[in-house]
Amino acid sequence: MQYKISDKFVSLKPSAIREIFKSLGTPGSISFAAGNPNPDSFPVKEMKKIADDIFENEPVTALQYGITEGYTPLRKLVSERLKRVYDIGTPDDDLIIVTGGQQGIELTCKVMCNEGDTVLCENPSFIGALNSFRSLGAKLVGVPLGPEGIDLEALEDALRANPNTKFLYTIPTFQNPAGITTTLETRKAVLKLAEKYDILILEDNPYGDLRFTGQDVPTYKSMDAEGRVIYCGSFSKVLSAGMRIGFLCADKNLISKIVVAKQVEDVHTNVLFQMICAKYIEQYDLEEHISGIRELYRHKAGLMLSALDRYMPKEIGYTRPEGGIFLWCSLPESLSLDEFVRRAGEKNVFVVPGTAFSADPEEESHSFRLNYSMPSDDEIDRGIKILADIAAEMLAGR
Ligand SMILES: Cc1ncc(COP(=O)(O)O)c(C=O)c1O
Repeated sequence: MQYKISDKFVSLKPSAIREIFKSLGTPGSISFAAGNPNPDSFPVKEMKKIADDIFENEPVTALQYGITEGYTPLRKLVSERLKRVYDIGTPDDDLIIVTGGQQGIELTCKVMCNEGDTVLCENPSFIGALNSFRSLGAKLVGVPLGPEGIDLEALEDALRANPNTKFLYTIPTFQNPAGITTTLETRKAVLKLAEKYDILILEDNPYGDLRFTGQDVPTYKSMDAEGRVIYCGSFSKVLSAGMRIGFLCADKNLISKIVVAKQVEDVHTNVLFQMICAKYIEQYDLEEHISGIRELYRHKAGLMLSALDRYMPKEIGYTRPEGGIFLWCSLPESLSLDEFVRRAGEKNVFVVPGTAFSADPEEESHSFRLNYSMPSDDEIDRGIKILADIAAEMLAGR
């Protein structure tokens, strides 16, 4: 059968990361490719107890259709936490529970963009969001990401060149893939540009709770006085990724449109897991749970950075994240990324090449992403040593 795939999907490639997952079965392989939270961060016993209680006492609520906006107690708890922790939420705002941050990103684009409208993003950026924007027919324009955040001059150039820009998609805190946190100065300047060119900002913050060093930086949403920022959050990295619970907080008028778009997609997010999530927050100490995850990632990031400091030739650069689960390594331009990734794969060490995160998939990259939340302590040390040896051999053979 010859299938005639739609124009929107025919050129869309599968996520390079999910493809790498398929080659990970080999015993002894070391993966720095995942974006998964460490399974130790799942409160399994507590969730089992909550689920048992729900089936005992409230089975109908869990098994019946729910409302699109989300399970009311969860919406209330998330709104309260957003206000308390991030100073997010004004009387004009509303909050909807979505099926993972991924759906929040997709629904925002669906509601805001006509085909051909421009979405600006940091380059590199999160592949799941980029593929959403592509699949909806938006024109994706990448703006280089530097150590302080998005390059402001390049951002203004892109805004001038693309008057039909609807929004900037940004991951300002512990960025995926680069591990960079946008400074307060850059955030303020980006907000000014958003006002000047009258665009929205989609602030994606799934890693914001996972700071293990340094000072918190205010979110865009907390500095937004005009309803210009749509804030997307998720429980994937702090409770469970498989339960698929995320949320969007934005101006009421926008959320009401997003509600309609969600009705068309999946009616509502899984009620049982919304209930489990709400009851976990009510009955246990989420902040203490999160601080345990921060400790774990502080330890893992520290191990990876000290292995990089010890083994990597000085020609290889890398970011030093203050939180989150990724760091970003860059080879000198004289070295081929393809060859490096292939040689690492032959030694059963897997990384994601930078090309996977590029707004323009044809663009050359010399960088790759390393994840430290999943590998064991021993794998981090051994895997980085293998990568460093490959880099040293390639440098010697230039
Ligand atoms: C930057 C970013 N945004 C959003 C998501 C989506 O997360 P989820 O749909 O699991 O909430 C991810 C997942 O890895 C991510 O890295």
